[in-house]
Amino acid sequence: MLGRLNHIALAVPDLAAAITAYRDTLGAKVTAPQALPEHGVTVVFVDVGNTKIELLEPLGDGSPIAAFLAKNPAGGMHHVCYEVDDILAARDHLKASGARVLGDGNPKTGAHGKPVLFLHPKDFFGTLVELEQA
Ligand code: CO
Repeated sequence: MLGRLNHIALAVPDLAAAITAYRDTLGAKVTAPQALPEHGVTVVFVDVGNTKIELLEPLGDGSPIAAFLAKNPAGGMHHVCYEVDDILAARDHLKASGARVLGDGNPKTGAHGKPVLFLHPKDFFGTLVELEQA
């Protein structure tokens, strides 16, 4: 079921500063910022060749990463995203296996315009897992 690593996401308190650090200090290619109001974040992707790093900044009130940044004010690793071929089949398999799917269990459209779901970090050893239909 589990496919390739699509990206690793880092929550950051200041996206502009993070873009400067990745683009200018580290010399990486960074996409233009993209606001995702449905997810409560603004994102950019850093191309590192074999995968991507997603940099997340809170957007609006009640952002799902606000509590994370309150606990980790300097920022930190927020989630890993794996690709799956069929997100509904993956969801049904996971639920039948006892894993908790966050939200209402229905995929939302992610930053790449593809359906995504998030799995409870307590079911996966403390790491929030995102699944994206490839
Ligand atoms: Co992500």
